[in-house]
Amino acid sequence: MNIIDIIEKVKRREKLSREDIRFIVNGVTKGIIPDYQTSALLMAVCINGLDDDETTELTLAMAESGDMLDLSSVGRPVVDKHSTGGIGDKTTIILGPILAALGVPVAKMSGRGLGITGGTIDKLESIPGFNTEVSNDEFIKLIKDVGFVAAAQTISLAPADKILYALRDVTGTVDSIPLIASSIMSKKLALGTNCIVLDVKYGNGAFMKDYDNAKKLADIMCNIGRNAGRKMSAVLSDMNQPLGYAIGNRLEIEEAIDYLTDKKIEKGLEKVINELCIEMYKLSDKYAGEDEETLKQMIRGVIEDGSAFDVFKRFVEIRGGNLETFISPEREKHYEELLSSGRLFKKEIELSKDIDQLSAELVGRASLMLGAGRNKKDDAIDPYAGILFLNKPDDLKNDEMLKLVLYSGDAGKIEEVLQTHLKMFIE
Ligand code: URA
Repeated sequence: MNIIDIIEKVKRREKLSREDIRFIVNGVTKGIIPDYQTSALLMAVCINGLDDDETTELTLAMAESGDMLDLSSVGRPVVDKHSTGGIGDKTTIILGPILAALGVPVAKMSGRGLGITGGTIDKLESIPGFNTEVSNDEFIKLIKDVGFVAAAQTISLAPADKILYALRDVTGTVDSIPLIASSIMSKKLALGTNCIVLDVKYGNGAFMKDYDNAKKLADIMCNIGRNAGRKMSAVLSDMNQPLGYAIGNRLEIEEAIDYLTDKKIEKGLEKVINELCIEMYKLSDKYAGEDEETLKQMIRGVIEDGSAFDVFKRFVEIRGGNLETFISPEREKHYEELLSSGRLFKKEIELSKDIDQLSAELVGRASLMLGAGRNKKDDAIDPYAGILFLNKPDDLKNDEMLKLVLYSGDAGKIEEVLQTHLKMFIE
């Protein structure tokens, strides 16, 4: 068997055999197939696609390329959720603690930012001292002791995905249904969670630009999971506007804290949180046929009594994180200090026109330019960089204007964003 013949087969749209797919995944994982051949193969798949059988086989081979975690010692079904990536998407950090407070164990292997989309791991790392590298034993202990864990992808789980993901990011081969489906589902299957809710985003700020393709992606991922014996459900959510008020790593942790402490809850974010929490709860062993209204009240209950925030604080504390400067009034003092010492810059602006053109994609690009994401693989993230909406279009009454604050450790980047992405809204 030889990799060139396999690339040719995909180029000619011939069906790959199980052996072809195992050969590819084994060769990629062991470093036998060089990056240039893997990249050619990825591009051929991106252009010509794979059928459902091939996608399922690729997913299983990638899942089995490393350790398969056994969560049976938890003694109960563990629930997982995965988003296909969006702008301002801090849902994991909010819904994990809510469900844990409702008695549903939640475990996730999360990613870093990809392109203009943010990643939970980068967000958690904006908390000083927080360690996102969790061993397999610590992972299981956190599920048992706290009821919620979100950890970085370790080398031992789905290593083939780690290699392919990094290559796709720099070869223009991200937006492919079989590649996204196998990437996400291989990690889910390797992690061993029993129930999986997929948040498949569509719109200008998502990899799937339209609803129909997002639905196709959701269906294939649910089929792969069900064939592997998992309880599956998918929510399709709109990513034409950023989610919530904050875009940027630390800003999003602050918004998650404000949500969990019932201080500030944006309506669009609340809709997605409720939808995902309800789907996750319904798949869990706690579900006793409650209707959606009752489930929404239960969600509100654990926010109002502080138990969801207690779960979040415990999780952060165990991972070494320090939330001192995230809680008022220390938060405000911390920002004053950073701003007055020139370590952080901010600019508040009012948008005078065309606010319906302020898409998730544009906000994602502006936030990346401020330093909240990476342009190259090894770029450092500026944890404070990003955009904070003081109001959202749905909040506006009469002649009120949309107000945003731009944050960056580099004043020049704020100017650059004002001269490029935001220029049309302020002139
Ligand atoms: N998230 C993943 O884990 N993989 C993808 O390919 C896209 C989003």
